[in-house]
Amino acid sequence: MPLGYERVARHYEWLAKLYSLGAIAQTREAHIQDLKEGDKVLYLGIGASREPALATSRGAQVTAVDKSPTMLSLAQGAAAKENVEGHRDLRWVEGDAFEILERSDYRSQFDWIVCPFFLNVFNERSLNRLLPLLTDCLKKHGRLVIADYAHYHGQWPHRVFQWLYYTPPRLLFGLLTGNPWHPLYDYPTLVRQKTSLEHKKTSFFPILRSNLYASYEFSLAQNTTIHPGQASQP
Ligand SMILES: C[S@@+](CC[C@H](N)C(=O)[O-])C[C@H]1O[C@@H](n2cnc3c(N)ncnc32)[C@H](O)[C@@H]1O
Repeated sequence: MPLGYERVARHYEWLAKLYSLGAIAQTREAHIQDLKEGDKVLYLGIGASREPALATSRGAQVTAVDKSPTMLSLAQGAAAKENVEGHRDLRWVEGDAFEILERSDYRSQFDWIVCPFFLNVFNERSLNRLLPLLTDCLKKHGRLVIADYAHYHGQWPHRVFQWLYYTPPRLLFGLLTGNPWHPLYDYPTLVRQKTSLEHKKTSFFPILRSNLYASYEFSLAQNTTIHPGQASQP
């Protein structure tokens, strides 16, 4: 019997597209426009997404990690469609993110570490272990990007709407993949508590004019600003 995301890998992308009307892909691809040629980019829990392919096309040096071999082979298929599969600057790593981040050759190596809908697969204890490891693998001016469900915000009717929208897939994926149940994460708060990174900006991605998805960016640099992204600030 396949375990975890192996079980859902072949259906994951079309389900995500249908459920979010394309907002999940927009959220996880938002950082691509800011990548520069030669940037070293690490994707964790990449799933079947095409960000590694898009980043490689922009001249970045990409490492994409996932524990699920089927997910990785689907991401390689996406790279083939963009004509970059086999590119010398595109590396696929099948394995557990915790073990990989602890390797000495990953220390202080990356201009970008991107976690697209990845950190929510962990309980709070594991996440608290993972966040400092992520920080250790960034270069001095490197950036951490977390794309995920937006934390609860706004007036109570909006919060209720968020809860109603987020809860069914969280329950379903919990049952299918074994993801632990936990409260929705407030990444800016968690990152501030567990690392030396600063929250630099948040870009929101709406469905029905509601900011349901967010891309949070963190770095070691000074001057925190909140950027409303493509939708109004809640
Ligand atoms: C919710 S999916 C997100 C997939 C994709 N990044 C997206 O944005 O839709 C989580 C992904 O993390 C991978 N994953 C889960 N635990 C992992 C671990 N410990 N190390 C590496 N990958 C892991 C799963 O195989 C799955 O592809």
